[in-house]
Amino acid sequence: MDDLIARAADVLRQTKRLVVLTGAGMSKESGIPTFREAQEGLWARYDPMKLATREGFLADPKLVWEWYQYRFGLVAACKPHAGHYAVAELERLLPHVVVVTQNIDGLHLAAGSRDVVELHGSIHRYKCLYGHRGYTLADLAGQTEVPPRCPRPGCHGLMRPDVVWFGEFLDQEVLGRATAESQACDAMLIVGTSGVVQPAAGLPYYAWRRRAAIIEVNPVPSELTDLAEIYLQGPAGEVLPRLAALVAQGPTAGREEKKGN
Ligand code: APR
Repeated sequence: MDDLIARAADVLRQTKRLVVLTGAGMSKESGIPTFREAQEGLWARYDPMKLATREGFLADPKLVWEWYQYRFGLVAACKPHAGHYAVAELERLLPHVVVVTQNIDGLHLAAGSRDVVELHGSIHRYKCLYGHRGYTLADLAGQTEVPPRCPRPGCHGLMRPDVVWFGEFLDQEVLGRATAESQACDAMLIVGTSGVVQPAAGLPYYAWRRRAAIIEVNPVPSELTDLAEIYLQGPAGEVLPRLAALVAQGPTAGREEKKGN
């Protein structure tokens, strides 16, 4: 593994435009269970694939709102791990790094990554059924109705998390940015995604078609592993800090080594 990480660091050092594509596995070591893991206690009897849909919300807005408040509580108690900080470090070391994440937990931003494209939205943001968005829980405080209503004067629509539910389209501007960055990158670092959910799982193919270097970090091979020229088999929290540390040790495309005169 050491020589593979060293090779990956060499590739990243020469990278001018890097996309870091992350999925639920990126947040695993922060303690956030993925949708697909067994749910605890009260929620164990509910199927997340049914709750995280517009139909599920319309059928029982209170239940879906309370499920997201339960998940919001889980996320609020979790912190970024060393892998998140390593991704933020790569943004400081290399000339152009964009994080494209499927995660809604906000942990990349919390770790200091600045250019983050949240493909599936964020559990920290709320919108109403009529699309009025940009609200936080603080904006809804004081309302006793569950779910609360849209604060926009004259709207009063039911509020919901500003996340992409199964069967919903992604925000076209967000997807457009993620696609453009994948089409322009010279390397893509794929971390913690099974590569089964579209359109996120299609982004690596844009990079692959333009012969970008693809590096994957995952303890288990995914649907995308065949695209990777370097597959680092291990957990994000262990592999990414080692990778970032090696990148920091040498000159990078964005930071030439000072040459003695
Ligand atoms: N480090 C890196 N990867 C890990 C780790 C870890 N510590 N632990 C698990 N993984 C990997 C798993 O091997 C798996 O390949 O993370 C991946 C998680 O896959 P999924 O649970 O399918 O998550 P993801 O690919 O992000 O799912 C995409 O589907 O659940 C919906 O909308 C939700 O954004 C999510 C989308």
